[in-house]
Amino acid sequence: MDADPQPNALVGKMIRRADKDREASAPSSLLKSAASHGDASTPAATIAAEAAATIAKSFPGRRPAPTTMVVFGAAGDLTKRLVAPALYNLVRGGKLPEGFALIGIDRNDETTEAWCGNLTNMIQAFARAGGGERQALDEKAWSWLIDRMHYMPGDFTQAETYGRLEKLLSEQSGRQGGTAHVLFYLAVADRFFGPVIEQLGRAGLTRQSDKAWRRVIVEKPFGHDFASAEALNTQILKVLSEDQIYRIDHFLGKETVQNILVLRFANGIFEPLWNRDHIDHVQITAAETVGVEARGRFYEKTGALRDMVPNHLFQLLAMIAMEPPISFDADAVRGKKTELLQAIHPISPENAVRGQYGAGVVLGKNVRDYRHEADVAPNSGTETYVALKLGIDNWRWAGVPFYLRTGKYLSARTTEIAVQFRQAPYALFRDTPVERLPPNILMLRIQPDEGLSLSFSAKRPGADIEIDGVEMNFAYRDYFAPLASVGYETLIYDCLIGDATLFQRADTVEAGWRAVQGLIDAWAGASAEDFPNYAAGSVGPATADRLLARDGRTWMPIRADHRHAERSA
Ligand code: BG6
Repeated sequence: MDADPQPNALVGKMIRRADKDREASAPSSLLKSAASHGDASTPAATIAAEAAATIAKSFPGRRPAPTTMVVFGAAGDLTKRLVAPALYNLVRGGKLPEGFALIGIDRNDETTEAWCGNLTNMIQAFARAGGGERQALDEKAWSWLIDRMHYMPGDFTQAETYGRLEKLLSEQSGRQGGTAHVLFYLAVADRFFGPVIEQLGRAGLTRQSDKAWRRVIVEKPFGHDFASAEALNTQILKVLSEDQIYRIDHFLGKETVQNILVLRFANGIFEPLWNRDHIDHVQITAAETVGVEARGRFYEKTGALRDMVPNHLFQLLAMIAMEPPISFDADAVRGKKTELLQAIHPISPENAVRGQYGAGVVLGKNVRDYRHEADVAPNSGTETYVALKLGIDNWRWAGVPFYLRTGKYLSARTTEIAVQFRQAPYALFRDTPVERLPPNILMLRIQPDEGLSLSFSAKRPGADIEIDGVEMNFAYRDYFAPLASVGYETLIYDCLIGDATLFQRADTVEAGWRAVQGLIDAWAGASAEDFPNYAAGSVGPATADRLLARDGRTWMPIRADHRHAERSA
């Protein structure tokens, strides 16, 4: 029931933000960069400055309406590590409305003071860490939020809890100038998603009017296979309409992921090449240097495939491979993403590799094997690594393989997408000393070394024709001031303004699960004989190399910092 829908919200926000960064780091970083490559008064610098000025005029700022946010799971880890820090960052950025309030609900029988005290300790530690730069807590911003926080102990499964919540919300509405907008955030274990939403419905708390929108953010995991995701959708769609449901995939909160659409669709040079005539294959990697940490119980029944593929990796895949949407309107974008996921060929076990880590050394530290982690079975068959070869059945991509891989305890932490272009014909170089032409690779670095690079061939200076691979590099840090962000700010803010572009629709989630369901079933029916099959701190199992070798290809090296990466052939 958003009275003020926001088409073009994604683009508008991104352009405004770039512009703000430029103001903050005056003289313009664009100008600086042009200057570093020559004269600051070059036409490129002038054009960039003019473009920035034009763009700034077209997208005025926007603040959400007064809203009460209700967090279920207020004492949990997610609230502490992500939701509260994200709200703090939003306050610092001036993004929350004066009439904002936060109600936390959890089973712990504690007071508002105690809840705020716990969060204050945590936020102080968070501010000190400062995403890399140590900084002091912004007391003013934090007290602004604390003054608007209220804790309510309650059992999520009991109707009585929702009766008390209803009373609190009506009191709050008095302070919101007659409006009663409420965002419910389900930071709870997935088994509570359905029951909490049903209780909200029964208590009349999901009913909307012109002055009272009601939205629900549902966390991950949304189902554990196709059938459970479909059942959960059916259950919650009995209470809520689709436009009230915001299914989170936190990868979509990453700036670099959002930038994929801008890269593809706001630049004239990529899209004409973005198809099977010019692209040889695509690799998507999400390599982690953490193990299962304290999440053994969850991970044992989840595994790398369910944990990362139908959600995070498929979101990257959809961004990189979807057709251009007709606008940046939420449904236009999500419709195209869903179509892409629906076009994935069923994945057969021959095109998939699973791995489990053995003991090893990660970032200089000895670590134990997966089967000796807490809450993990000594003969566990759960995979901590997965590599897949996917085909996409449409006119743009037929015949272009997409290789995906993700794993715990690998040699470096990096999430990236490598788009490898087709080889140039060799004939011209037949009578020269050039033995082979290196491929052009467009590398999108999602994290942690955010940016992108394009590799191409250049002639080595000298009398002979010798070719070398060289690289053009764009690093975010060279152009934009870093934003204080835990990755949830944009998502919470978007939900407050009613922009669902970065959230998953029911059919998108189901399409993701449907694509991997055959493999889930096949793996459930045949246990892996070779576990553990990769050492912690390595690049994964050797069988994953064979998945590409049989197509005459190799994986990109797994390296966190690409400034020092060697080019892969
Ligand atoms: C979560 C998974 O959804 O994403 C974790 O459950 C994984 O297992 C995490 O570590 C990765 O996210 P990020 O943002 O750290 O790359």
